[in-house]
Amino acid sequence: MAPLKVLPLFYLVACAVALPKIPLSKRNDILAAMKRDGVLGHIDRLKLQMAKTQSKIQAGISAIEKNTGRVHPAVTGSKGSFNAATNNPAPEKLSPTTSKRATAAEPLTDADEDLWFGTITVGTPAQTFTVDFDTGSSDTFLPAVGCDSTCDGHTLFNTAASTTAVNTTDPFFLQFGAGNATGFVFTDSVTVAGVTARSQAVGASNHYSVEFEADEFPPDGLVGMAFPALSVFGDDPLFTTLVNQGTVAPAFGVRLADTGSELFLGGVDSAKFTGAFRNVSLIEEDFYALNLQALDVNSRTVATANGVTAIVDTGTTLLIGDDQGVEILYSAIPGSKDASAILGPGFFTVPCNSIPTVGITLGNQIFNVAPAIFNLGVLEGNDCVGGVVSSDGIPFWVLGDIFLRNFYTVFDQGNARVGFASPR
Ligand SMILES: *[C@@H]1O[C@H](CO)[C@@H](O)[C@H](O)[C@H]1NC(C)=O
Ligand SMILES: *[C@@H]1O[C@H](CO)[C@@H](O)[C@H](O)[C@H]1NC(C)=O
Ligand SMILES: *[C@@H]1O[C@H](CO)[C@@H](O)[C@H](O)[C@H]1NC(C)=O
Repeated sequence: MAPLKVLPLFYLVACAVALPKIPLSKRNDILAAMKRDGVLGHIDRLKLQMAKTQSKIQAGISAIEKNTGRVHPAVTGSKGSFNAATNNPAPEKLSPTTSKRATAAEPLTDADEDLWFGTITVGTPAQTFTVDFDTGSSDTFLPAVGCDSTCDGHTLFNTAASTTAVNTTDPFFLQFGAGNATGFVFTDSVTVAGVTARSQAVGASNHYSVEFEADEFPPDGLVGMAFPALSVFGDDPLFTTLVNQGTVAPAFGVRLADTGSELFLGGVDSAKFTGAFRNVSLIEEDFYALNLQALDVNSRTVATANGVTAIVDTGTTLLIGDDQGVEILYSAIPGSKDASAILGPGFFTVPCNSIPTVGITLGNQIFNVAPAIFNLGVLEGNDCVGGVVSSDGIPFWVLGDIFLRNFYTVFDQGNARVGFASPR
């Protein structure tokens, strides 16, 4: 008879110690849409997103200067450079006249955002919101009751209904991507994955620019997961507050994939990876900034880098590099073509029947991007669009989805490093 009594107790305990993890999802995955409908129908969304990444990073660099009084090393004149291992011919330029602009299989969707979101609760009693989790920024903001019509369609944070909400009376203006949000910074309890931060700074917005309106931006708000130096509010990010209040250990794990995406707080979820982590030390603690050492194609080093920084950003879809490095990379891929005339600056194609394995060397270890992930989809004939693109407006390489989908990633703040393991 004893087991019958023990069993319910066991379940009770198992529930009480539920792991601090939440599922993440995308409402409108650009990568899946491109593979389904072809690249051309979604290229404008992708370009808009690149522009957003650029302005987000510029806003972050300004915040670092304001918080630390120091210009970020990646922007003090040099953003590093590459040396090509061999001199390869420049890729042939695709001409727009040879490619008819395919019509989109589906009309352009309004939802331009393509970020990973999950659920948090804020206040006492708890109010529930969906938020993007973004390792490329550090502030938390929500639309609030009293917001003008720009917040229509979102769930609004009712500060007056929360007994723990405190108005700091500090106004904020947050430039995020192409959009911006204004309001006042409150502090309140924020619960994510079952763990609670008390007196967490939350921007309560009374105006969203058009980019954050509900049809453009499906979640309600955003939670920045990077370091305090990157906070525009000048306050501790949510994860820093959780760590400082002793709630979780200073590391979180992220799995980003078509299914089973997850944020795990306080460590890593052993159900989501196999083998050991390969760890890379941070060179800056503002963004998650790493030193990029080399570029590989099919396990052959095609360029070595000097002073190039790469940031790990869950809020960016592509793997974005600088013009010089990206040009060297594609010139080392036989049959690659410069697709700028058709798709816009920075885009290249590779032969669909021999998609290369592109490798990024960080911390003296090569991290490979699987061909199936690198391939954004067919442009025309045997030309498939590559997931590494260039943008000279960004002083870093940005390791977005195209990179992160290959790994289980640990953002290990306590040891000032990021680690990558094989996902399962
Ligand atoms: C927060 O404080 C500011 C400055 O005093 C005030 O203008 C604003 O209305 C307050 N917000 C709310 C929701 O009470
Ligand atoms: C905020 O965003 C809107 C819409 O993009 C833009 O028109 C406006 O100029 C921005 N405000 C500031 C102060 O940059
Ligand atoms: C790499 O980081 C992970 C997670 O923080 C840790 O468990 C592992 O021991 C580290 N490996 C090495 C070789 O330091």
